[in-house]
Formats: sequence, structure tokens, C-alpha cells
Amino acid sequence: MPSSCGCISNMKNGKHLTMGIESSCDETAIAVLADGREVLSNVISSQIEVHKVYGGVVPEIASRHHLNNIPFVFEHALEEAGVTLDDIDEIGVTAGPGLAGALLMGTAFAKAVCAAADKPLVGVHHIQGHIMANLLEHPDLKPPFLALVVSGGHTHLAEVQGYNEFRILGATRDDAVGEAYDKVARVLGLGYPGGPKIDKIAKEGDPHAIEFKRVYLEQGSLDFSFSGTKTAVINYLHKEEQGGRPVNAADVAASFQEAVVEVIVNKAMMALDLTGYSGLAVAGGVASNSCLRERLQKACEKRGAKFYIPSPIFCTDNGAMIAAAAYHKAREGHFATLHLDVWPGLNLESGLGKLEQ
Ligand code: KG4
Ligand code: ZN
Repeated sequence: MPSSCGCISNMKNGKHLTMGIESSCDETAIAVLADGREVLSNVISSQIEVHKVYGGVVPEIASRHHLNNIPFVFEHALEEAGVTLDDIDEIGVTAGPGLAGALLMGTAFAKAVCAAADKPLVGVHHIQGHIMANLLEHPDLKPPFLALVVSGGHTHLAEVQGYNEFRILGATRDDAVGEAYDKVARVLGLGYPGGPKIDKIAKEGDPHAIEFKRVYLEQGSLDFSFSGTKTAVINYLHKEEQGGRPVNAADVAASFQEAVVEVIVNKAMMALDLTGYSGLAVAGGVASNSCLRERLQKACEKRGAKFYIPSPIFCTDNGAMIAAAAYHKAREGHFATLHLDVWPGLNLESGLGKLEQ
């Protein structure tokens, strides 16, 4: 079968090819992986420009854009990989958690392709995908290991007991860390998405200019809470405004980031101590934050622990991470049926069975 560029497939060469489809939020992304690690293509169509004017993702608009974009992203992913649909051995798709309408676009497309081309379908948990992104660039990493997930919707410390088996050790009790970054960026007038903007502007600020609240919760707890720190920033800005004092946005961004990063690093090190794991794998959009990357790396080095983190392009939402997770799920026989539903609030520890119904 000819590929979209008209050339005959030349890349399969006996390799096992997995396609990964991601559409849980505002990125329409499809990738092709060879043998679970080698990224042959990783096409990402971002909707940032579309949602920017609203200050955040508008679910209905996101779904419509996925619907329009998916066929082109699919063609492009095959073309860039130099393969045809015939060459693909299985197709993985994010079925939760995420925006219901956005998830439906990806799963409906994946099911249609699998039905038409008679391919096995694998349902993937979005956070499982983020964690498995670490396998793309770290051939030595195998479960069990400890994972820190820091994304726009989730903040978890989890034990990765197997490729399809997780135990959550701690989670946020209110805002996810990416959500806190985005809200603080909004009150600072930095725009959407706020995380990368805070990361950038914080480099010019003093991280100790303002001592924002650090929330550790009960002694020994591996849970997180970021809403108190976020509120402390908002209160500070109101107070300065009422007092007619000018605000240094770079100092505020750097001080907020300092408070959040300090707590995350300390909790991750506490989790290493409590579990006895010798290495930490970090995942999710906030894992592309330069300050967090540097601090976690230093903390791991200091205690002789191995440190795994994907390149920034594999930290934010992408299809390669979904394909990586799907490859390992398929090896263990965790396939979905064409009845695969979407699960906007899917639990990583207890919900994976729903993806095989
Ligand atoms: O993992 P992700 O792409 O989507 C979810 O699964 O939620 O994460 C998106 C989040 C957003 O909150 C975004 O602001 C944040 O990751 N983010 C960052 C950076 N890049 C993305 N936060 C801090 N620093 C960054 N460089
Ligand atoms: Zn994500």
C-alpha cells in the first residue's frame, strides 16, 4: 500500500511498529515507534493559538479542532515515519483521563482505523503514557521504579510496579502543579499557557524576594497542595496593588517557582527514602520546567540516585509517549475492544481494567 507521500514502505525492516494517538486536551498528536523506543515520527498539532484568546482550553473548541486535525496528523505521522498503515502492528490511543469530547475524537478515529485495517487496539491511560515517555530515551529503565508526575491536571508520586501496574503513593489534594503555574501566570498577566512563561521570566527574578507559603501537609505525607501557595501569590499582588506599590513580575514568578519546586523536590526525595528505590523518573508537562529539572537532578546526584527525565518535547503531550505505553501493554496482552469507551476521570491505580472492556 502506498504511503501518503506516494513512496513504498521501506522502514519496517522486521521491526515492530506501534502508532500512538493522543487527543486528551489541546494537542492532536500521533507518533510511530519502532520496537517500543525508536521514534520514527512524532507529529504534534497544538491548539495553543486557538485557546490563547480565552485564557485557557475551551473543551468544545478543542473537540472540533481534533476532529479537523486528526486525519492530517495521521497522514503526516505515517509519511514522516516512511511507513504505511499496513506496516503498523498495533494502535494505542489515550482513552482517559482528559476532556470527554477531546478523548472521543481520538478514540473514535483509532477504533475506525483499527476496524477498517484490522489492527489491534490498545487503550492507554494518559498518565501511564507520560511515565512511559521515560523509556524512549533511557534503555536501562525498567519497572519497578519510582515516578513523579507533574502535569497540568495531575501531580502524583507513584510506584511503577510493572508496565501496566501502578501504586499511587501521593497526589495533590487541590490544584495540580501545572494548574497552579497557569493560574499564577494569569494573575501576573503573562498569558496562556503560563508554565513556560513563568519558567522564562523567573530566570530574571530573585527566587528569595518574597517568601511564599510552602505546604508540606502532615509529617511524612507524600500528598501535595498548591492552592495555598497560589493564593499567597494572589494576596500579595492585591496587597501591593492596594498599597500603590509597583510589582516586579520576575521576582514574583521566581519566588512562586522556588516555593513550589522546593516542596516537589523534598517530597520526591522523601518518597525515595520511604520506598528504597534507587532512581526517580519524572513525567508530565511541568517536567520541562528548567528549574525543576535542575533541582531534581542535583538532589538525585547528591544522594547517588539515578535520575530519569524525558527531553522537553516528550514531557508535554505527544503521541510517542502513548505509543511507548501501548507497545508494552500489547506485549503483555492488554488489548482493548472496539467498544473502548472514554474515561475523563480514569484512576491510574484502579482504573486500567476499564481500558480492556
Ligand atoms: O502534561 P501536559 O502537557 O498536559 C497535561 O496532561 O495536563 O502539561 C501541561 C502543563 C500546563 O499546565 C503547562 O503550563 C505546564 O504543563 N508546563 C510548564 C512548562 N511547560 C509546560 N510548567 C512549568 N514550566 C514549563 N516549562
Ligand atoms: Zn499530559
